[in-house]
Amino acid sequence: MIPIEPGQEWTVESFTPEDARGVADLFLGVYGSEYPIQIYVNPDLLIRENQAGRVISSVAKTAKGDIVGHNAIFNLAPCRKVYESGAGLVHRDYRGGHGIFTQLVAHGLALGRERPDVDQVFGEPVCNHPFSQKMCRGLGFVTRAIEVNLMPAAAYAKEAWAAGRVTTTMDFITLKSSPCTVHVPKAYESIFPVFYEGLDDERQFVLSGQPLSSQQVTRLDTRIFDFAQVAKLAVKALCKGFSTVMKAEEDRLLQQGIRVIQVWLSSGDPSLGEAVDSLRSSGYFFGGVLPRWFDSDGILMEKLVDEPVWEDINLCFDRAQTLMALIRKDWEAVRNLNKNKHGRTGQ
Ligand SMILES: CC(C)(COP(=O)(O)OP(=O)(O)OC[C@H]1O[C@@H](n2cnc3c(N)ncnc32)[C@H](O)[C@@H]1OP(=O)(O)O)[C@@H](O)C(=O)NCCC(=O)NCCS
Repeated sequence: MIPIEPGQEWTVESFTPEDARGVADLFLGVYGSEYPIQIYVNPDLLIRENQAGRVISSVAKTAKGDIVGHNAIFNLAPCRKVYESGAGLVHRDYRGGHGIFTQLVAHGLALGRERPDVDQVFGEPVCNHPFSQKMCRGLGFVTRAIEVNLMPAAAYAKEAWAAGRVTTTMDFITLKSSPCTVHVPKAYESIFPVFYEGLDDERQFVLSGQPLSSQQVTRLDTRIFDFAQVAKLAVKALCKGFSTVMKAEEDRLLQQGIRVIQVWLSSGDPSLGEAVDSLRSSGYFFGGVLPRWFDSDGILMEKLVDEPVWEDINLCFDRAQTLMALIRKDWEAVRNLNKNKHGRTGQ
């Protein structure tokens, strides 16, 4: 950790190019040189990404120009108007109750409210400590999904905070309203209302009953996070033959050592239910709902190579615990479904 005089006054501001070196030093100090996302440890890249508007950084800065905190909003979701709030961290001597992280994230939300291209923001609080879960709740984000086993423990080695893989929640806040229709898969009809409870926008819910279309071909957009052994698949077109396309993609990913596969599907698609049934029969369980993910909403389905250590997932609040219990129940149901299937077929 680069020494910074402790106890200085600080303010939260928009990033300027002269902050780039301080941000990189902060990331290297907190996470070490193995930190996998180059943008935050390469000052020139951080300047370029901010100038291009692909990353919108906020910094906590002292009068001397020392950088004691960073957070950013950026678009990685399929819908260009859905932004993640992430890459948040605070210098060790400035943590704990000063509210730096909270102010950084609030600053990003305020910037998002002013911009016409940011409608929805989500955060991914880790479950190996309570601070970001508390911060998100305090700012009005609501947990809608849980990414079980998302990050490898190695990512947190320097902070010595994790024994196994780390689960994160996905907490959303609507900045601009955009009502849409949600097609509810039959398999999740009874639990969808819990995941949508208290949504800060309007939705019309209809049961998904349409069969998969044979008009086009299924299209997947796969993003691989090698360092985390995670693959995230956006289903861009959902049609007959979905299960065959998924199986081939899954085989390819498992062969290259991926241990967590996440699939995002649009609930704007009336044939979502059939796709969900197909995924469940290949071992995928429900992870939650993703407001505005594809412009219309999305859902998250997950498959894990390793069995989660459920007891190590520390969720601070009742809401996330309730969602986790439902997700775990589906994980068990899917496991039994596939066990029985294999039993019957003798495989
Ligand atoms: C997580 C981290 C950014 C928090 O920074 P921070 O400036 O100390 O956070 P804040 O002061 O804004 O506090 C956020 C919440 O956590 C609580 N909190 C912070 N430190 C705490 C402590 N030591 N004990 C108990 N609660 C604490 C705060 O009270 C606040 O909750 P509240 O809104 O209910 O009051 C900082 O610990 C860090 O950089 N960790 C390493 C990187 C990391 O884990 N990033 C987040 C990834 S999701």
